[in-house]
Amino acid sequence: MMNYMLIDCDTGIDDSLALLFALKRKDVRVMGVTTGFGNSTATQSAHNSIRLIQLANPGYDVPVAIGAEHALNGKRGDPVPHIHGKNGIGNVKLPPACQKPLEEHAADFIVRMARMYPQELTLVTLGRMTNLALALQKEPALPKLIKNVVAMAGALYVPGNANLTGEANIVGDAPAADIVLTAGFDLTMVTLDVSMRTRLTAQHLEYLDTVCREENRAIVDYLKEAFSFYFHYYRREINFIDSCPVHDPLAILVAVDPSVVLMRKMRARVETMGSLTYGKIVTDLREGRLDTPFAAFCLEVDGERAIQSILAAFTEP
Ligand code: BDR
Ligand code: CA
Repeated sequence: MMNYMLIDCDTGIDDSLALLFALKRKDVRVMGVTTGFGNSTATQSAHNSIRLIQLANPGYDVPVAIGAEHALNGKRGDPVPHIHGKNGIGNVKLPPACQKPLEEHAADFIVRMARMYPQELTLVTLGRMTNLALALQKEPALPKLIKNVVAMAGALYVPGNANLTGEANIVGDAPAADIVLTAGFDLTMVTLDVSMRTRLTAQHLEYLDTVCREENRAIVDYLKEAFSFYFHYYRREINFIDSCPVHDPLAILVAVDPSVVLMRKMRARVETMGSLTYGKIVTDLREGRLDTPFAAFCLEVDGERAIQSILAAFTEP
């Protein structure tokens, strides 16, 4: 079955592997990429995405639309060069591409595509949910038009990575995440609970270097360079040695093969006020205190199987 996908990202080192993975999977057709602020600016993310599309050479056009440069409340999240490099992709200089971003705003593009392909598109969000919340304001019927949403977002039973309890894609725009969680999408949340246990290592990249298809050689060279930057951050931050979680690639994988995770459906909201808990996802464990729609939260993962599935996109014919 072909998966028709829109990818909303803040390209980002792990976002870049997610894009390359989606563009290389034979059962995925990337119908468009939209970008937002986060790991870098929305504009830089779009230019990174265009260069990555050129690198992947999928054999079809992938439009790219620039979206929100700040959260719904107007706050601008600063890029994080210590995590993703000055250019968002570990300071790797990819060859420039001729493709230009669309004139259209990302939110308008999402709405237009959803109307054009009703119930056919999977939207995978790999950054703040600002573009999706804006799209929802423009088209309240979006949850019926989009087939499903898979979001890399949230931390349930593990520590946050943006503050004590919150995950970066939620904390970066908590009101937007709350709007999306309560809108009625068929929604899967790929949380830090599973992404932190899906780890790419230097050995995985060496293996890829040995067995990748020749046409993917430049991709693997890029991955080795970009991920050595990301490994350094995780070494400094949490003492992972030559390894890092691959948050965003896991979300793409869950969108096409949910069997790598165990999920629980829960009603949930996002805390948008708390000084200690800003951006925390609050779930209704007694089922009945919240009247919001259910979302499927990923709680367990077969991390090594997930990594092997991701790598296979670059090695299999
Ligand atoms: C998420 O935040 C970003 O840094 C990553 O690209 C990922 O989308 C992980 O919390
Ligand atoms: Ca991201």
